This record gives sequence, C-alpha cells and structure tokens, in this order.
Amino acid sequence: MLMNILIYNLSIPLICNCWFPNFELADSHSLDSSRYSIVGADLRFSSDLEEKLKKHNLDVHLPTLLIAECVLVYMTPQQSANLLKWAASTFPVAMFINYEQVNMTDRFGQIMIENLQRRQCNLAGVEVCRSLEAQRERLLLNGWENAHAIDMMKVYSSLPQADVKRIEELEFLDEKELFEQLMQHYCICWASKDSSNLGLADIAF
Ligand SMILES: C[S@@+](CC[C@H](N)C(=O)[O-])C[C@H]1O[C@@H](n2cnc3c(N)ncnc32)[C@H](O)[C@@H]1O
Repeated sequence: MLMNILIYNLSIPLICNCWFPNFELADSHSLDSSRYSIVGADLRFSSDLEEKLKKHNLDVHLPTLLIAECVLVYMTPQQSANLLKWAASTFPVAMFINYEQVNMTDRFGQIMIENLQRRQCNLAGVEVCRSLEAQRERLLLNGWENAHAIDMMKVYSSLPQADVKRIEELEFLDEKELFEQLMQHYCICWASKDSSNLGLADIAF
C-alpha cells in the first residue's frame, strides 16, 4: 500500500549520509528523490510547511503517518495546537505519533526544566507536558478523532520480560530508580483520523 510518512525533525546530513549516497540536495534544507523527500521548515508556520510539501508532490489523500520526536515541546501550546489542527484538516486518513516529555510538574520534571534552562534551552510548550491526559486532550481538541498516551515506563513494562531480563543482564543498570523516573517523564501519544475505515482507531499498544 502506498502511504506517506512525515517525520518532524530529523538531522538532514545524517539521513543523507546513511540512506542516500546518491541523492540530490535541492538546497541546504531539502532533498528530493523519486521515493523520498526531506524538507526543512519551521513547524510554527504550517502554510509555509504545506507549500514546501506540495512542491515535493506530497499526495495528502494517501494514508499518512506523522511522527514528532521531542519537537512540539519547543513550540508554545498555541503553535503546536495549530500544527496538529493543520495536520488533522489536511490529511483525511492519518495517524500522528508524538514522543516527548510528560509529568513535568513534579520535582523530577522541574529539575529537568531548570537544567535545560541553564543551557538556554526553553521548553515553551512544557505546559502540555504536565500529564498524559493533557497530551491526549491536545490531540482531541485539535481535530483528531481518537487519542492515546502512555508513559515509557508502561511501554518498558509491557515488553517481553524474558527479553528485558536478558538485555538488562547484558547492559548492567546500576541506576534503576533513576532510569524508571526518566521513563515516567517521557511518553508516546498516538492519534488517528480514518475517513477510509482502515481500522486506525484499533491500533493500540
Ligand atoms: C531535542 S531535538 C529533537 C531531536 C530530533 N527528533 C532528531 O531526531 O534529531 C529538538 C529539535 O526541535 C527542533 N525545533 C524546535 N523548534 C522547531 C520549529 N519551530 N520548527 C522545526 N524544528 C524545530 C530543533 O531544531 C531541534 O533540532
């Protein structure tokens, strides 16, 4: 089945070097090939993004998977809401996957925020990262038909435990409590829209 995959924020030189030794760079922020395009854009401006995607012949009617990894948190809640709303209204059959911080109002979260601020890194959208429910609500309020959010500790606990045990023995974890706290402060959220009834709403963890 043909589909689009839009990944927000990947390192362009890294991808080019690893996957596309013979690609053509359109400019320093984009590349085009017959099956794959990379476009650099400021995600706060969705009309600009849409124009660039259209230039790369994106067919919005194909089922589309949008993936964001720790990028919405750098936008204000209003800006990320606009992006999600744009995506929901542009792609009739789509799934949005977002990975970023959660539970940021507790002491651990506050220390993370302070550490980043000390390095001049401002998490403008951290307010939405206060809880799993806030993450879910942002998706539902911005045009997505259903939404789920779980923290990474839950993901980790759901992995086949024999594999977890084997890997933990290979790579000894001496700071298990810290690791668990970190995992409780990141989450994966997914939402879908499915005018073709492909069954996207049934995709669950
Ligand atoms: C913590 S990194 C995420 C890493 C990224 N997922 C990757 O695979 O490289 C945050 C990234 O968000 C990007 N970013 C922040 N605000 C942005 C915006 N308005 N539009 C596009 N990218 C943005 C920054 O340039 C930075 O590369």
